[in-house]
Amino acid sequence: MDGLHLTMVKFSKDQQRILIFSGWLTLILSCMVAGCSKDNKPGEGSNTPVTQMEEARLLEGKAVYDAHCATCHMADGSGAPPMNPPLIKTSFVLGEPDQLIVIILNGMKGVEVDGERYRNVMPGLPYLTDQEIADVLTYVRNSFGNQAGQVLPSRVSDARMSVDDR
Ligand code: HEC
Repeated sequence: MDGLHLTMVKFSKDQQRILIFSGWLTLILSCMVAGCSKDNKPGEGSNTPVTQMEEARLLEGKAVYDAHCATCHMADGSGAPPMNPPLIKTSFVLGEPDQLIVIILNGMKGVEVDGERYRNVMPGLPYLTDQEIADVLTYVRNSFGNQAGQVLPSRVSDARMSVDDR
């Protein structure tokens, strides 16, 4: 105890200033590295890795779905067999985005869906915008128990051009 006391009083004014300064520096640096930015990352550590951007796309997609798809495929995606197929984990819904986009653009008729036949005809909905088609497919691929990648509007415009070229 005595020894510590002695070393303390041996510090000059300059040495004390340097000690206080480096103390503050350590505090500020560790705050920058660890604590202070914590609040800027919502969703980190939670179970849903959906960003705010994707959430907005899903909301828009649901609006398109309710307006243009739910009459045949039902609000919960269960469809209306034997007229309209479900959109729950079918090979189409979970499959290639390009094929899905073409179904929305051109419609679909007389095609088996996972071994089942459906009597109704799906009309093409080419008047939907690239963004609307991207959003509704992103919504379908991440609702009703489905889990598949987001569809981007640029992919829809590419598919639209290749459909037009045929
Ligand atoms: C008028 C009724 C009707 C509307 C409206 C409609 N569909 Fe369909 N859809 C069908 C039918 C019927 C089929 C199956 C056609 C076949 O068997 O060839 C189908 C097939 C599909 C398929 C492929 C098969 C499957 O079940 O995975 C997808 C995906 C799909 N529709 C999504 C949509 C989306 C998304 C919308 C809205 C943007 C929509 N449909 C609007 C009737 C409809």
